Amino acid sequence: MDSFLIRGGTRLKGKIEISGSKNSALPIIAATLMAKGKTTLKSVPRLSDIDSMNKLIGELGCHVYRHDSPASDGDMPSLNGPLDIEVTDEKNCEARYDIVKTMRASICVLGPLLAKRGKAIVSIPGGCAIGDRPVDLHVRGLQKLGAEFRTENGNIVGEVRGRLKGCRMYLGGAQGPTVLGTINVLCAAALAEGETVLVGAACEPEVVDCAEMLIKMGAKIKGHGTPEIRIEGVSELIGTEHRIIPDRIECGTFMIAAAITNGELELRHCNLDHLIAVQDRLEDVGVRIQRENGTIHASSARRLNTVEMTTQPYPGFPTDLQAQLMALLCLGDGISVVTERIFPDRFLHVGELNRMGARIRKEGPTAIIQGTKELQGASVMASDLRASAALVLAGLVAKGTTRIDRVYHIDRGYEKIEQKLAAVGADIERVKEK
Ligand code: EPU
Repeated sequence: MDSFLIRGGTRLKGKIEISGSKNSALPIIAATLMAKGKTTLKSVPRLSDIDSMNKLIGELGCHVYRHDSPASDGDMPSLNGPLDIEVTDEKNCEARYDIVKTMRASICVLGPLLAKRGKAIVSIPGGCAIGDRPVDLHVRGLQKLGAEFRTENGNIVGEVRGRLKGCRMYLGGAQGPTVLGTINVLCAAALAEGETVLVGAACEPEVVDCAEMLIKMGAKIKGHGTPEIRIEGVSELIGTEHRIIPDRIECGTFMIAAAITNGELELRHCNLDHLIAVQDRLEDVGVRIQRENGTIHASSARRLNTVEMTTQPYPGFPTDLQAQLMALLCLGDGISVVTERIFPDRFLHVGELNRMGARIRKEGPTAIIQGTKELQGASVMASDLRASAALVLAGLVAKGTTRIDRVYHIDRGYEKIEQKLAAVGADIERVKEK
């Protein structure tokens, strides 16, 4: 397992290219299972989670081909070549445990398989570092469209007699809307008979991106990006070309990297509209954020103010940036309060940040952060993707050397993070496992 060695204390300065969104690309790749003919996806990041999803749809009968990286793709420089996907065999309907256990987003094939092939066997995703992550809302939504479910040997087995049938349904749960649950039901409803109305739908940009691609494939969808999505089912979807939206979480992480190192970064090809709550909180902390077309300039004053922040569904502050903001608030001038409402147990970074000299106390779903003048380098352990990103941020500013073990968690969701950071002045190296 690889590690990162970070010698903290350098000011980051320069330009970083933001990759396509992991959380948009994963369900979109799964949705291509429903299309006839070839779909070409652009700006798909090169990440281990994307490799797992490609492997999964490969097992489900898709031919997947990644083109070489172009030097430049029109006015949108791209790190990666496009990804072509074409379904060539519809016999297999099973997402095996071996893949599902490495990537929970495998659940995204459930709706597309039921809608297109009438059957789906998906291993039940187990527990996860950020807490219990049930899939009951996915199943309930698909049941309302007429799918029948049973559990068998650790698998969810779903079947459809004839065609799924549209209906009006409420999709929310105890913690609010579900992002991938909304996408699963949206995909299935695109091929269902008649009209489906999803009330309490997630409004995240990743849901909108998936809906936009389905529309290009021939789906009839209105209201995506609002809590009520209307879908008029069609009988087939045709392969298309689609560019994945920029990764708002990667962008937010680098905005915080600029702030925590008292640096100045130009983040290219991103969309500040998707980060409005993040901008709001960071500006209160004292981060200067300016937009110029598709570029964000982020820099910070030396003094970091304290804030209160609660994670919420979009357009609120995203849970996927909670850990990174907390790393920044460790250096705030006083006490900050962070409450996690989406995944109340998502605090694995707290213990590791405290090992680096942070002063964070957890009380239920809330963390109370007493700012300190300095963090110190230490050996820490990456536990989940975003917690690990928070440790990288802390390492960038800590005095001395920080060693982060198990960085495979970071490789799941941040494309070439050490190269991107090194290019703007960070002293970071990957130590390969011998
Ligand atoms: N929930 C249920 N039942 C369900 C589904 C969700 O109770 O059937 C609960 C969850 O336990 C949670 C809340 O609803 O409390 C919201 O979860 P959601 O379903 O929205 O999460 P998700 O769709 O499984 C995606 C992202 C996560 C991100 C969340 C919230 C992908 C691949 N994953 O997960 O991203 O944290 O939305 O925005 O899109 C990450 O990238 O690090 C990551 C974890």
